[in-house]
Amino acid sequence: MNEDQFAARVNAVEPAAPFVITDLVSELQEQGRDIIDLSVGQPDFETPPDILEATHEALDAGHTTYTPSNGIPKLRRAAASYLNERHGLDYEPENIMATPGGKMALYESVQALVDDGDEVIVFDPVWSSYEPMVKLAGGEAVHVDLSPHGFHLEPALDELAEAITEDTALVMLNSPVNPSGMVFSEAAFEGVRDLAVDHDLAVISDEIYKELIFEGDQPSLAAMDGMFGRTVTINGVSKTYSMTGYRVGFMAAPTDHTTMAGRVHSHAVSCAVNFSQHAAAYALSEADTDAIVDNMLGTFERRKEVLVDLFAERGVEVAEPESAFYAMFPIDSDDDMQWCKDAAREAGVGLVPGEAFNTPGYVRVSLVDTEERIREAVDRLATEGFI
Ligand SMILES: Cc1ncc(COP(=O)(O)O)c(C=O)c1O
Repeated sequence: MNEDQFAARVNAVEPAAPFVITDLVSELQEQGRDIIDLSVGQPDFETPPDILEATHEALDAGHTTYTPSNGIPKLRRAAASYLNERHGLDYEPENIMATPGGKMALYESVQALVDDGDEVIVFDPVWSSYEPMVKLAGGEAVHVDLSPHGFHLEPALDELAEAITEDTALVMLNSPVNPSGMVFSEAAFEGVRDLAVDHDLAVISDEIYKELIFEGDQPSLAAMDGMFGRTVTINGVSKTYSMTGYRVGFMAAPTDHTTMAGRVHSHAVSCAVNFSQHAAAYALSEADTDAIVDNMLGTFERRKEVLVDLFAERGVEVAEPESAFYAMFPIDSDDDMQWCKDAAREAGVGLVPGEAFNTPGYVRVSLVDTEERIREAVDRLATEGFI
C-alpha cells in the first residue's frame, strides 16, 4: 500500500503507547533479560478458580457460537443486577450491551455520540485511548488538566465550566482514574452533573475500577439526579475479576443509546465471545466479589505504601493513589517515551510514559508485581540514575 492510501483519520492517531512499552519489554525478555514489568494494565492475580470452572462448563456445553448481538440474556441480567446492587444504579437488562471489553463499549459509545467537529472534554492525565477514540469519530478532544491540582477534579471544576462551548457534545469521565489512581470526590461528581444538566451534555462515566477503591466509595454518575438519561456507564470484568483476556465488558445506558451504539457493535464485532459471556455472567452473579476484591485491595494497598515510601526516601513525591493499581511519579526529562525505553533497557523496569496520558513529565507505574520486586524496581531505577 502507498502511504496516501491510508485514511487521514487513522493517520491522525498513534498506536496505544502502553503497548509500545509492552512490546519492548517482551523483546528484552525474549533476549533473556530479567525485566520487572510495571507497565501493564492488568492485575497480577489469577482468574479465580470457580470462574475458570464456569468457563470450562461453558465450553463443554458448546457455547462457541454467535450470540445475540447485545449479549446473552443471562449476562445482561447479571450485569444489571450487579450494577444496581453494588453500585446503586437502576438499570434493566435491556439497558445493557455486552462488548468485547469495556474498551469496545467506549469506542462504540464515542462513535454513536460524536459527530465531525464535535468537542469532547477529557481530563488529563487521560487514559491513552480516549483521545484516539474521539479522533477516529471525527471529533476533537478538549483537555482539562488536573495535574496542577494533584490530579483531583474538584479544584478544576471552574476550568471544566470554561472548557464547555456550543460544540461540546460529550464529557468523558474516568474515576477511579487510570493512570493516576485518584478517586474523584462526591463534590466533583456533583459539579460534573450540574454542568452536564445545565448544558444538556452526554457523559460517559468509565467506572471500570470502581470496585478497587482503597477507602470509602464514589458515587455512580448515572444514579445522580438528572443523569440517568444522559449517562453511559462503562464497566466490565477485566480488572475486578482478573479476566482481561476474556474480553468482556459492557455499557449500561438508556435504550436509545444502546440501540445506536448497537448499530456500530453489530457491524464491527457482531457480539462478544460466547463462552466468555457465560463466564462473565457467572462472575457478576455468583462469584464471591467481596472476597476477590478484599484480597486484591489488601495486596495493592501494601504495595502502594511501599512504593510511595521508597520514592519519598529518594526525594520523589508520588501523588498517593486512592485506588488500585496505578500511580504516577514525576521525572526529570523532556522526552518521557525515551526515558521509559531507557529505563526498560538499562534498569530492566517497564513503565509507561506520561505523554501517553497527555501528562508529559510523569511516568505511570502499575503495582502488578510483588512488594519485593517493586522494591527491586525502585532500587534499579535509583542505581541507574533514573530517580
Ligand atoms: C480507564 C479504562 N477504561 C477501560 C478499560 C478497558 O478495559 P477492558 O477493555 O479490558 O474491559 C481500561 C483498561 O485498561 C481502562 O484502563
